[in-house]
Amino acid sequence: MIEETFSMGDLIKEAARRSARYIDDLKERSVAPPTEAVERLTGFDLPLPEEPIAPIKVLQELDDLGSAATVASAGPRYFGFVTGGSLPAALAANYLAGAWDQNAVFHVASPTTAFLEEVCRRWLVALFGLPPEAGVGFVTGATMANFSALAAARHALLGRLGWDVETHGLFGAPPITVIVGAEVHVSVLKALSLLGLGRERVVRVAVDGQGRMRPEAIPALSEPAIICIQAGNVNTGAFDPAGEICAIAQTSNSWVHVDGAFGLWAAACPDRVHLAAGIPAAHSWATDAHKWLNVPYDSGIVFVRDPQHLQASMSSRAAYLIAGDTREPSHYTPELSRRARGVEIWAALRSLGRFGLADLIERNCRYARRFAAGLQDAGYDVLNEVVLNQVLVSFGSSERTRQVVARIQEDGTCWCGGTEWQGHAAMRISVSSWATTEDDIERSLQAIIRLALG
Ligand SMILES: Cc1ncc(COP(=O)(O)O)c(C=O)c1O
Repeated sequence: MIEETFSMGDLIKEAARRSARYIDDLKERSVAPPTEAVERLTGFDLPLPEEPIAPIKVLQELDDLGSAATVASAGPRYFGFVTGGSLPAALAANYLAGAWDQNAVFHVASPTTAFLEEVCRRWLVALFGLPPEAGVGFVTGATMANFSALAAARHALLGRLGWDVETHGLFGAPPITVIVGAEVHVSVLKALSLLGLGRERVVRVAVDGQGRMRPEAIPALSEPAIICIQAGNVNTGAFDPAGEICAIAQTSNSWVHVDGAFGLWAAACPDRVHLAAGIPAAHSWATDAHKWLNVPYDSGIVFVRDPQHLQASMSSRAAYLIAGDTREPSHYTPELSRRARGVEIWAALRSLGRFGLADLIERNCRYARRFAAGLQDAGYDVLNEVVLNQVLVSFGSSERTRQVVARIQEDGTCWCGGTEWQGHAAMRISVSSWATTEDDIERSLQAIIRLALG
């Protein structure tokens, strides 16, 4: 039996108190966790306990051992991967939604969360300039958004040829040609592999120096074919030329899917929307909310022009699964039971509004340009055109660059990751957090330059 003496209210307050302290500390603590803190994680490694303990003690253990060994990726100087923080309203909504513990499967299981998803659907298609009737699913991240969109594509293309892929699978089905750029994100390949379309049977199209697909290199296509394009290369931030590619696709009735894990958000920002030109002409789109919308992990979004294709590939029917007349969240996602991700997305959009979101995106892009200028002034090579929030920098030879990246990570002022770009080691800087200020950029720039000189 769990002790009856604890107060739920006191427990929640204690969780909030510890969380607030953690968030305050984020501004000054080392971004990478200290080695000793990571070593202390062995304190968790107990034999499976026999007896219950008080929830407050569980919380205390988790905070005492766990918090110090986290990466301060929710803080203002984390520039690794493409990582948003948690907007205040989104984090607070996450706490409340945790207390609600809703299953966002059906309207009948959670009217509030089903309703909020529909509101978010409407807001998001308007923000991105996508068809107002598009089907939208709230999934774990861009990987699953890519998966869900490509499942809808598979359904639509094979359905046109009289093949019901959900019923009969792919054995004996007409083969689908899949086109990707040479710089395709690995998550698209993973999605293709999960769908039985294969990672390696894709046709890879040559790209330019920024990683953009060359439309003239796309081979002649016949039905059925899918062209996977990218809005925001994970290294350079570059966009495939969507308008030209969609026009090519139209001549062969091919499906165009856009992986816009972070780049799609450019469409919500008047100063960046030119990058997304042509994107609304595609058939499906994938993005992340846990990147540039700055909601807590995990949160991705899939959009499909014709909602029926997404529904047909995602719905499951059983007598006890009673669907109503309103939009049913689980008809658009691979999962049946799921947490209510729409709540945080709603809170983020409600708190920022169009202008606040555009300002967040533009501010991050301005900071990326400041990083690029500062590093160039210090004599280092910036390898990409900084069109968005991504900066790729070389500190000389590949070996030297890797050494500098390791030093920056160890120093802890900020955190940047390494990558390979067109045969050379490079450091990636991704500015994606609402919490980052001009002062954080200057502090990080100074630290990077100091460590690169040393
Ligand atoms: C272009 C692109 N696509 C897909 C993904 C995968 O996103 P997630 O890890 O949220 O599934 C990423 C992640 O950085 C990305 O940059």
